Amino acid sequence: MAGTILVTGGAGYIGSHTTRHLVDEGFNVVVLDNLYSGHRWAVHDSAEFIEGNAGDQSLLADIFNRFGIDAVIHFAGHIVVPESVEQPLKYYRNNCVVSQNLVESCRLVGIDKMLFSSSAAVYGIPEKIPAVETDRVQPINPYGRTKLITEWLLQDIAASADAANPFRFLALRYFNVAGAAVKGGLGQATPEATHLLKVACEVATGKRESIKVFGADYDTPDGTCIRDYIHVDDLASAHVVGLKHLIDGGDGGIFNCGYGRGLSVQEILDTVAKVSNVDFPRELSDRRAGDPPALIADTNKIREQLGWEPKYNDTELICRTAFEWEQQYKA
Ligand SMILES: NC(=O)c1ccc[n+]([C@@H]2O[C@H](COP(=O)([O-])OP(=O)(O)OC[C@H]3O[C@@H](n4cnc5c(N)ncnc54)[C@H](O)[C@@H]3O)[C@@H](O)[C@H]2O)c1
Repeated sequence: MAGTILVTGGAGYIGSHTTRHLVDEGFNVVVLDNLYSGHRWAVHDSAEFIEGNAGDQSLLADIFNRFGIDAVIHFAGHIVVPESVEQPLKYYRNNCVVSQNLVESCRLVGIDKMLFSSSAAVYGIPEKIPAVETDRVQPINPYGRTKLITEWLLQDIAASADAANPFRFLALRYFNVAGAAVKGGLGQATPEATHLLKVACEVATGKRESIKVFGADYDTPDGTCIRDYIHVDDLASAHVVGLKHLIDGGDGGIFNCGYGRGLSVQEILDTVAKVSNVDFPRELSDRRAGDPPALIADTNKIREQLGWEPKYNDTELICRTAFEWEQQYKA
């Protein structure tokens, strides 16, 4: 079953955890990362590491030639929503143009299987909760639009493929990815991260002074925004399951990745305070433009069609692994 997988962005948060799962499952992994926000130390010892840009077509041709790549998992990209509003070209270049170059390079040598990191940001303000893959997509910022454009690119390529020149892909729409490796030794090390749980753990370990709560007057039970937090190990296992599905000849498609349950900002902060035993300061701030009150995945499709079963749908475990990693990383 196993094969050789190119993981772009494999030195980043989700890519490094997924690489570990792939190695554990017997795959050979080649990581291509330009270390923009990733770290060399995060790349698994058993993986080949190539420092470079995932959109560099001559480098890709060389990698494909050297390693005989069977499939690509494309994590590489920029991910900060406010920055995408200020610098849209940076996002269109790194998320859309790089993806186009990568897909084109794959097509040239007949690599016909790809997994792509999409995002719940494609839904924008969701038309209903939980969000189903077939719901309206209407991203409200450049980041979300670059993810949707790349989904469309992949759909168009797959639609144009035929038996002589096949191509199938999975676009996984991640909801809020959180936590750190249950086995330890790996976690989120994104510089200046904006993710709620990461920031809360940085406050609990004393790296930051306080955390802002953006709005406590939403129409939710405690007034704060609700999101669907998925543990990074469960997300990594969704990639392994998805990859095996494509290798077995399964159809491509678009899949939500979440647990189908919402946690409020307050619940996350309370749980971090509990697992860290630190009563850290919270600052109440105005709502941020474009934050939907709730964003929760409908997960029936990935469970039924890929047979994915999450193991870590446990708020305390998610917060505890994130906090313990933050302590270790700070030290
Ligand atoms: N973290 C989340 O909650 C979340 C949610 C939805 C979608 N995503 C998507 O998942 C993917 C991975 O996110 P992450 O949280 O691991 O972020 P991350 O910043 O930790 O990882 C991204 C990795 O890609 C690398 N990279 C960026 N541009 C590159 C390029 N052109 N060539 C080679 N390497 C490049 C970075 O150095 C980094 O190692 C991204 O595409 C992101 O949009 C993340």
